[in-house]
Amino acid sequence: MTAKELRIMYVNFFKERGHKEIASASLLPENDPTVLFTMAGMHPLVPYLLGEKHPEGKRLTDVQKCIRTEDIDEVGDDMHLIFFEMLGNWSLGDYFKEESIAMSYEFLTECLRIPSQRLAVTVFGGDETAPPDLEAERIWRAQGLQPEQIRRLGRDGNWWGPAGQTGPCGPDTEIFYDMGTPGCGPDCGPGCNCGKYVEIWNNVFLQYNKTADGSFTELVQKNVDTGMGLERVLTIFNGKTNVYETELFLPVMTRLEEFLSQRGKEMPQKNRRVICEHIRAVSFILGDPKKIAPSNTEQGYILRRLIRRMIRLLRQAELGSEHLCELAEIVIGQYGEAYPELGENRNFILEQLQKEYARFSKTLDEGLKKASRYMENMEKGGMLDGESAFKLYDTYGFPIELTAELAREKACDVDTEGFYRKFREHQEKSRQGAAGKFAGGLADHSRQTARLHTATHLLNGALRAVLGEEISQRGSNITPQRLRFDFSFGRKVTAEELARVEAIVNQAIDKKIDVVMEEMTSGEAYAAGAVGVFTDKYGERVKVYTIPGYSKEICGGPHARNTGELGSFRIIKEEASSAGVRRIKAVIEG
Ligand code: ALA
Repeated sequence: MTAKELRIMYVNFFKERGHKEIASASLLPENDPTVLFTMAGMHPLVPYLLGEKHPEGKRLTDVQKCIRTEDIDEVGDDMHLIFFEMLGNWSLGDYFKEESIAMSYEFLTECLRIPSQRLAVTVFGGDETAPPDLEAERIWRAQGLQPEQIRRLGRDGNWWGPAGQTGPCGPDTEIFYDMGTPGCGPDCGPGCNCGKYVEIWNNVFLQYNKTADGSFTELVQKNVDTGMGLERVLTIFNGKTNVYETELFLPVMTRLEEFLSQRGKEMPQKNRRVICEHIRAVSFILGDPKKIAPSNTEQGYILRRLIRRMIRLLRQAELGSEHLCELAEIVIGQYGEAYPELGENRNFILEQLQKEYARFSKTLDEGLKKASRYMENMEKGGMLDGESAFKLYDTYGFPIELTAELAREKACDVDTEGFYRKFREHQEKSRQGAAGKFAGGLADHSRQTARLHTATHLLNGALRAVLGEEISQRGSNITPQRLRFDFSFGRKVTAEELARVEAIVNQAIDKKIDVVMEEMTSGEAYAAGAVGVFTDKYGERVKVYTIPGYSKEICGGPHARNTGELGSFRIIKEEASSAGVRRIKAVIEG
């Protein structure tokens, strides 16, 4: 099956069931400051999900181009993408769970001819705010799914939205394809990210609205919002194991491999995949009618980061901007029929790629020299400090993931937290005296960041309490949505241990403890039992943040003043980050 056939099959299936087809919206959301890119088919439909009447009626379907940047580190594995096409269908206060699940099941088993036993689903298992979704479970059973094909998960697994800070959200049921490989252990089931279960479709029952104060109100209508990943379904339907083997990536991959063999160069598979993924994402962003160009802010900066990452990899293989442009031409040609905007903006796409290649080439070599100087004395497993990473960014235009990639190539890491701290300080300085037009958003943003910083310290402390003092922080990264924490530890953390860690953090939050900041020399901090990154500069003064009974850490801040400001702490993922290093992603809610 081709991508074109799949798009048509999906849309026709829903058209035959009373849905009207709508056009894919821009990748750049209209009037929505809370997200940078359209990241789901529901996004352009928010006003209608909230109750406004849609001119096409109550049943809609489409293929929406989407960008999600949170999986940037995962790109290069079998299935994670930054750009993807989402096949979707919506009920705006019309049908609900029964019909939605029945239609999904019919499409999967009859149109895609997936055997029922290769499907597995998760449903919302309930928590203190909402009951388990027994109805969804009953409907799946009625379709013929066996109890072992259905798994109940918490809010982290089976609650979707809002897309930004506020808006429609609700419980969902996620549909997985079982690759038929052995599971990773007794706890393996749908929702596990070991690779056995590939999420292909998500049916969300959007019946709540999250408001700016963090509370949930019932929507005037009960909606259904579904999203299916086109690339993943195409991979599975055609019996492939990864998206790069589909017709969507093969032409670009083949051409890149030809370029490499012309130059007599080798490139690791992951890097080849990164280039093929990013060239498509970048062509779509540049090809959007809104004409975003690479820059140092917002969408333009995401674009710049993706392009620069490719440029560095291409230049390693002595490939130039003409090669980059040729790869973009392949994407434009391939998608020109489904997305005519790519052809219409062809010149803009190629011109911007050339300009960025030229611009970055001027500083790249110097920057690479500087980076190797910074890293030449680093041992395996060492950490490049945030200040150097910031210097590479500020002077040579190195995005943080490029620096991280350079460090990884030497089996080292980068203090991304330190980098962002420098970055923010710098931003603060350059904004001083500005008209204060971002004041509201920024205040909110930095408060959330501060809360997540404090949560990270509690997490570090709780991990030490549960797993032992020998674990040590290997990196941390905070966005307004979540925290990410990497630490050295030789095996998977069990569900039971994670639950204990969560309980300790939540206990500290419930106790409403004041966070104390003291300044001292790094020697004094060490003597006081603080953990964290110690500076080598003898006698340098550092800030130590203490949460009595739970944590003492050297850190630049910012932090919440009291743990009671944090809201409920929840671990959403635990996985391997690299050999001997585990990664935890967590959120605070409310
Ligand atoms: N909006 C839902 C998702 O993105 C369908 O998963």
